[in-house]
Amino acid sequence: MSDSHFDFGMIGLGVMGRNFLLNMADHGFSVVGLDKDNQKALSLEKEATAGTTVKGVTNAKDFIGALKKPRCIMMLVPAGKPVDSVIEEFLPMLDKGDILIDGGNSHYTDTIKRIHYLKDKGFHFMGMGVSGGEKGARFGPSIMPGGDMEAWETVQPMLEAVSAKVKGSPCVAYLGKDAAGHYVKMVHNGIEYAIMQLIGETYLLMHQGLGLNNDQLHDIFKQWNEGNLQSYLIEITRDIFMQQDDKTNNRLVDMILDEAGAKGTGMWTSQDAMSLHYPIPCIDIAVSMRDLSVYKEERTKAESIYGDPHQTLSIDRDEFISQLHDALYFAVINCYAQGLGMIQKGSAALDMEIPLSEVVRIWRGGCIIRSVLLDKFYDIYTQDKTLPNILLSDFVAKELQNNVKQTRLVIATSVNAGYPVPGLSASLNYFDAYRRKHLPVNLLQAQRDYFGSHTYQRIDEPGIFHTEWKESE
Ligand code: 6PG
Repeated sequence: MSDSHFDFGMIGLGVMGRNFLLNMADHGFSVVGLDKDNQKALSLEKEATAGTTVKGVTNAKDFIGALKKPRCIMMLVPAGKPVDSVIEEFLPMLDKGDILIDGGNSHYTDTIKRIHYLKDKGFHFMGMGVSGGEKGARFGPSIMPGGDMEAWETVQPMLEAVSAKVKGSPCVAYLGKDAAGHYVKMVHNGIEYAIMQLIGETYLLMHQGLGLNNDQLHDIFKQWNEGNLQSYLIEITRDIFMQQDDKTNNRLVDMILDEAGAKGTGMWTSQDAMSLHYPIPCIDIAVSMRDLSVYKEERTKAESIYGDPHQTLSIDRDEFISQLHDALYFAVINCYAQGLGMIQKGSAALDMEIPLSEVVRIWRGGCIIRSVLLDKFYDIYTQDKTLPNILLSDFVAKELQNNVKQTRLVIATSVNAGYPVPGLSASLNYFDAYRRKHLPVNLLQAQRDYFGSHTYQRIDEPGIFHTEWKESE
């Protein structure tokens, strides 16, 4: 094969970049990867499946020269400045019509700026979310591209080939205009944060409240993964409980410090939802709880002040585990509802035209939040593309009604025993508020008008009103 005939190029051969590229090669595409680290470039070729066409280079000119035109170049580098540095470095070497894809977790507002910047110069730029971690990238991720339609049409066959497949359908779709791909990936991660928080709460209650050991926890998550909670996050949780620590005789999970890391996508989701005035309390609380976890020293001091919070739950064990299952199912539905509702609202606000049925379709496989539930949501959004919230669908209404009582019982038991269940509570409170025609904000409006003449509307006639409120006796 002569040098300028490679189908696809990757800048950044970290685990995600190299795995995505090797996946592409396995599907018959000739690929070239660039990394300034010689070791990474060399090992790429060594890792490639025999018979595939894979080349690793360390020099930008060799990389550009190897690609057929129009060039398809994807970068998988850390979000923020590194993306701009790569763009600036490569711009002088590109030809008009070349396609640049940012496959990292970039903030969607950066992506919008980059799209316009590069369009003016005659290049195609696509922001594209890739989910599924290292294994997903290697064997089939969920891919969330958006923006430039011409670029999408060029790369579509390649992305369809490498993506995960569910019922024969590839987990990739054009998700809309501008930064739609990165917007959807951001909210995907927000939902990821929320579900992980919920699973953590069930772990706390079963491990400390019921005193279950890791083997028992494994068995429960294994069972949960065989029913309506079946999902990637439940599946990996099941496996985690069995992992031995290679430094001690303990299970690894028991040796891990309880301070959470976060790269920022969950926080971005919350920040954006606030600006959008869209309520996503399950995601917000998940972000806050990660933040709270980092205050380990203060928490340790507080525990010594307020006493041992590890109360054993005096309750029928099997009945509680069954309630917990149902509460988790209830709460997870609410997390998806909030995230999907936010995408609907964000799409309209930013005129991105994101097709929600496609979003849930491509989330059914490959990504971190894949679950059997998404199959149901796919049916719902296929029937009603404009549904503002899945809580308004018949299927979800039935599921929530069937599980809300157990959710209340779990929360009541936990709260009485002093166990924090902010995710479960946020989901129940969201549900209880969302399904109420009347909220107590008539009083709030009165207060605002009382102290600040902020005006209010009436229930019996249109218009904007203000009252000179009187002090009572
Ligand atoms: C995915 C993941 C991936 C990454 C998260 C981790 O979809 O494959 O979401 O993008 O693991 O960004 O995020 P935190 O470090 O913030 O937990």
